[in-house]
Amino acid sequence: MPDQSAVSVASASHPSAARRSTPHPPACADDPSAPHPAWLPDSAFAAVGSRRVLTAGEGLLVDTVRLEIAQATAAFSGTVADVPHDDTQPDLVLALLDHAPQTVADVASALREAGPLGEEGFVLARRAGTTVVLATHGAGLLAGMFHVVRLGESAFSADITPERHAPAHALRKLDHWDNIDVHPVMGQVERGYSGGSVFYADGGLRTDLSRVRGYARLLAASGINRVTINNVNVHASEALLLTRRLADVAALADVFRPYGIRTHLAVSFAAPILLGGMSTADPHDSTVASWWEQVTRTVHAAVPDFGGYVVKADSEGQPGPFSYGRDHADGANMLARALAPYGGVVHWRAFVYDNHQDWRDRSTDRARAAYDHFAPLDGRFDDNVVVQVKLGPIDFQVREPVSPVLAAMPRTRLAVELQVTQEYTGQQKHVCYLAPQWSEVMGFRPWGQDGPAVSDITTGAPSPDARRSVRDPHAGGGLAAVSNVGMDQFWTGHPLAQANLYAVGRLAWDPSLTPSAILAEWSALTFGADDPVVASTVQTMLTGSRDTYEAYTAPLGVGFMVHPGHHYGPGIDGYEYTPWGTYHFADRDGVGVDRTRASGTGYTGQYPQPWAAIYEDLDQCPDELLLFFHHVPYTHVLRSGSTVIQHIYDTHFSGVEQVDAMARSWSGLAGLVAPDVYDRVQERLEEQQRCAREWRDQVNTYFFRKSGVPDERGRQIF
Ligand code: GCU
Repeated sequence: MPDQSAVSVASASHPSAARRSTPHPPACADDPSAPHPAWLPDSAFAAVGSRRVLTAGEGLLVDTVRLEIAQATAAFSGTVADVPHDDTQPDLVLALLDHAPQTVADVASALREAGPLGEEGFVLARRAGTTVVLATHGAGLLAGMFHVVRLGESAFSADITPERHAPAHALRKLDHWDNIDVHPVMGQVERGYSGGSVFYADGGLRTDLSRVRGYARLLAASGINRVTINNVNVHASEALLLTRRLADVAALADVFRPYGIRTHLAVSFAAPILLGGMSTADPHDSTVASWWEQVTRTVHAAVPDFGGYVVKADSEGQPGPFSYGRDHADGANMLARALAPYGGVVHWRAFVYDNHQDWRDRSTDRARAAYDHFAPLDGRFDDNVVVQVKLGPIDFQVREPVSPVLAAMPRTRLAVELQVTQEYTGQQKHVCYLAPQWSEVMGFRPWGQDGPAVSDITTGAPSPDARRSVRDPHAGGGLAAVSNVGMDQFWTGHPLAQANLYAVGRLAWDPSLTPSAILAEWSALTFGADDPVVASTVQTMLTGSRDTYEAYTAPLGVGFMVHPGHHYGPGIDGYEYTPWGTYHFADRDGVGVDRTRASGTGYTGQYPQPWAAIYEDLDQCPDELLLFFHHVPYTHVLRSGSTVIQHIYDTHFSGVEQVDAMARSWSGLAGLVAPDVYDRVQERLEEQQRCAREWRDQVNTYFFRKSGVPDERGRQIF
């Protein structure tokens, strides 16, 4: 039955907040005790901790390295010193270049020859029984230390000829959709499935920030270097972080800083009115610009390494420059100019669309919106503006084409935005390892096989392709991702969802890493490298889990068939007659959205060739996106040889079987993984099995009733 509350809230003034009704099943409880160690259990430090370690250098982040090594060596009987021993040769040297002992001069010259490494890069080598990490800055040394931790014993076995390591993206940001207050509909963390905020409680900053410190450490070990500490939908209390609550921002920044993470703030575009008592927030009004300059100066004084502002403007009820007849470039540049003197960045989100659409109007296509708004502005954004683009044109569905905006703004710094929190992908009750999707997006080549990939665009890597000449070749906009973390004992509700948090950091550091390599690293760190049964079971469960989720939920690129509001579980017609612009157009003859230029909304024309032609052509369009681009009869034969209707039935039956197989695999780990982890995963798998059956039966029944076409294998449909 449709959720009546969702129907009635569809036109509410704060739509994204209003869309959620009571979550089902109940959310995680906050756990004040020590959280699960995730990918940094003590055992992960065994190889490093049992060695003789020499550290050299000065500074806040070098102190962090020393502290980590001191803890590890205390636990595993190693030693740490910061002056060379005369008699004993160290097993591991972690040094800043200008403090490096003579004994590692060969690695120092390799580093100099490697070319500029940036603040976060390092060189790793092993020769003559000593492993050496050298960096020019503390951030690089910290990254190098965590790299050695990841390598474990293999960092101390064979020789390693000097290797250069540096992050592909300069900006690797996690966005928290955390509120200070508990929102009556959305809870404290918008789209959060892991309990309350790790930052805020009782209407203010938490008094005990030890969990934030643990979090900073996990993020640093995965590769994240920026964190936005509040929701992009900026409510009244959170707007105050910019002014009256600035001390809270400074306190969090103090916790993140020793781990090389800079703090960002989501701000309301209407802040001059809300906080400054002004009558306008018009970006062309000089008093408005001065207000932002003065406020930003104060922010910088309190947080000297402040990262910048994140802005959701003119989107889902948030204020923006449209109210004054200005555009996104006008708005973003005003903020950018306030931040520029301090090295700050504006992340301006491209998630802009009409959420008051008339479902009867087939010419308006939500998928087109971001491109239509932003592509014409290419070249108008200041250098310290990053346009933050969701990975697909709709909204973090399990299957979407890559957003065409990423290929449409060669003179703009672009970041790709991913969603680690599993809003539409099982809400951390279902296993859904998302790295395969992210990796597909980063590797997508909008201009075909010989052109640059999305990761070339987001890293700003020099490209041989003349169609993309970013002003500064090192100025890609990086990667941004919505965090899945909360006060839950396991950080992420589902313990296996930790893999997504780890993976997003690793892919941000190096988008060429394969999802399976990341999974192997994560499971070795988290569960230990010694037990092959645990490692292989966990890897098997996670590897195909995105495909499994897709199989029992979203056929052939049709998305958003979710329960309105909270977005959990099936709601096949949930959004079909709403103003949100997300429709499947199923009738008795066929299903899918005609987005062709020939007869549909023309969205295919937003892609460069060859994709514009491939998506336009029914015969070339990849099966998994067919219904995203085309409306076809149920009897249409796919490239796979199956018909659309039979594909829907088959995948929904097999998706449930795959979930059952996952649950059987997990039960084989009883006694092999910690009981609390075992029980939590077990509980979640039971819910996934229940929910997958619900999806299967509702989707199959719906399409059987619409089409009248029976399952050729005669399975039960209701
Ligand atoms: C989705 C989500 C909202 C969120 C929005 C955004 O629509 O449901 O809760 O605010 O994305 O990314 O801004």
